[in-house]
Amino acid sequence: MMERIEQLQAEAERDLAAAGDAEQLERFRIKYLGSKGALKTLLATLKEVPAEDRPQFGAQANALRERVQEAFERRRSELGAAVGDGGGRAAGGGPMLDVTEPGLRQPFGRPHVITQTIDELIEVFGRLGFDVATGPEIEDEFHNFVALNIPPEHPARDPLDNFYLDEKRLLRSQTSTVQIRVMEKTQPPIRVVATGRVYRPDEHDATHYSMFHQIEGLYVDRRVSMADLKTTLMQFARAYFGPEAEVRLRPSFFPFTEPSAELDIKMQVRGRWDWVELGGCGMVDPNVFGAVGYDPEQWTGFAFGLGVERIAMRKYGIADIRWLFENDVRFLRQF
Ligand code: DAH
Repeated sequence: MMERIEQLQAEAERDLAAAGDAEQLERFRIKYLGSKGALKTLLATLKEVPAEDRPQFGAQANALRERVQEAFERRRSELGAAVGDGGGRAAGGGPMLDVTEPGLRQPFGRPHVITQTIDELIEVFGRLGFDVATGPEIEDEFHNFVALNIPPEHPARDPLDNFYLDEKRLLRSQTSTVQIRVMEKTQPPIRVVATGRVYRPDEHDATHYSMFHQIEGLYVDRRVSMADLKTTLMQFARAYFGPEAEVRLRPSFFPFTEPSAELDIKMQVRGRWDWVELGGCGMVDPNVFGAVGYDPEQWTGFAFGLGVERIAMRKYGIADIRWLFENDVRFLRQF
């Protein structure tokens, strides 16, 4: 029996040395290492071996199988190593490029969670009949303050609260600027939303960032009332946050609206219904109409401005505003 093992080893060595390409190597593998190969057959004869010789025979047969396996792998890598040398063909004669290999997956990008939120908001307001308007991020004092009825001594103008680029220009601190730009260019009736970045030199923490996004709304027509404002916001809240959402207006002050209100929406925050302050709103101040040459006796309107990050953070349960702008894809790919 031990002779059989030696004989098999000699045969295997000879055959392996003779295997010169991938096809012959495969034939070798089947002949010796396959499920019906010579080594399997050899082990199957174990039961014919006398009981006292069996452990030794088994050990030898296994050792042989390991040696043949190792030798096979060595030979395979020798042949494989020859692949690169020369005429673009593998040593086995096949093509060097395996076109059947699965390709490398190209990772798909996706819109940032803030972009997604803006798109959803625009879509909802679009259904309510609002067009989309845009304005520049670098603004002048007229559009950021003067036309919005913010006088020179108003604290909102403080250099410490704004990014001034020079005496006259600054990064816009609110999207309300776009109200002015739209009214300068068009005549009523007007129904627009504007989204974009605004800038304030706030210290960064979990809820503050020096740049964030707002969505601004402006509606101008004859005999527009506060009821139209509240109805519009309610329609929006239900469409966006679900039919059980509610709207609450709390009296407040903004220079460009009179009366003015803070806007709270009752929405579901991680399973719990809660009032969340989303921004401000009110009836367009007659002085604003004056600044753009509209007749305040003829035209009435409402406006609102909401924080996009607030909406997204509540909706997705994002605890820290800074995570939105660190560009860590492990965070961003969750949305
Ligand atoms: N611009 C205000 C802010 O940034 C928000 C705002 C309040 C916008 C009232 C409006 C409005 O259009 O009517 O705090």
